[in-house]
Amino acid sequence: MRKSALWRGSPIATSRDEFMNLLNRIRLSKKKDVFYDLGCGYGRPCVWIAPRVKLAVGYENHIDRFKRAKLAVEKSGYKNIFIKHSDFSFASYRKATIIYSIVDIGLQIMARINRQSKPGTRVILYRRPNYPIKGKKISGNYFIMRTPFKKARDPDEFAKMILGRKTATIEDLYKKLGTEDTRDLRREIRLSVKEWKKFVIN
Ligand SMILES: C[S@@+](CC[C@H](N)C(=O)[O-])C[C@H]1O[C@@H](n2cnc3c(N)ncnc32)[C@H](O)[C@@H]1O
Repeated sequence: MRKSALWRGSPIATSRDEFMNLLNRIRLSKKKDVFYDLGCGYGRPCVWIAPRVKLAVGYENHIDRFKRAKLAVEKSGYKNIFIKHSDFSFASYRKATIIYSIVDIGLQIMARINRQSKPGTRVILYRRPNYPIKGKKISGNYFIMRTPFKKARDPDEFAKMILGRKTATIEDLYKKLGTEDTRDLRREIRLSVKEWKKFVIN
């Protein structure tokens, strides 16, 4: 799994084919959609989506990558792309309508997105959602969810959703996951009652 707050990975991690395949599965509005890439690397997904949305915004906190992304945007000629040299933990999500990330953005940021974004904002992650958020597998390792996020009733319901099966238990899911991810998921489940309070929208 591509994870951790300090994880950087390849700045060109998403392939064009993979991304275009994703875009073919969602509805996009040139008039309304505002796309955010959290951890945009060299800015390629922003450039690819630009002709199909109103605005594309990339957040990148690594200075050299940020500069490369700015150059790529300049070269693309698209005027509706904005690259920010900034940590996405402090971003405002009020204008976003589609949020994309292959970084493990974690529950804190998911809660921030839930509180700030417009209802119906789509979040596409290259990983399973953190427990107990409900999501749908869209293609490959990608999951999609909409704000306000919904909560799985219990660990077994979460397992069914992640495995895409009508019957499954959390033990079935643990068997599929590696040691590290199983440990993370057990922890998420243990902390979920307390953590979910951050998702309550007043
Ligand atoms: C694997 S790259 C993905 C690049 C691009 N989004 C793609 O999919 O091809 C992830 C990027 O996220 C950046 N990153 C990680 N944590 C970040 C944070 N908290 N704020 C801004 N950028 C971050 C890393 O520097 C890295 O360039």
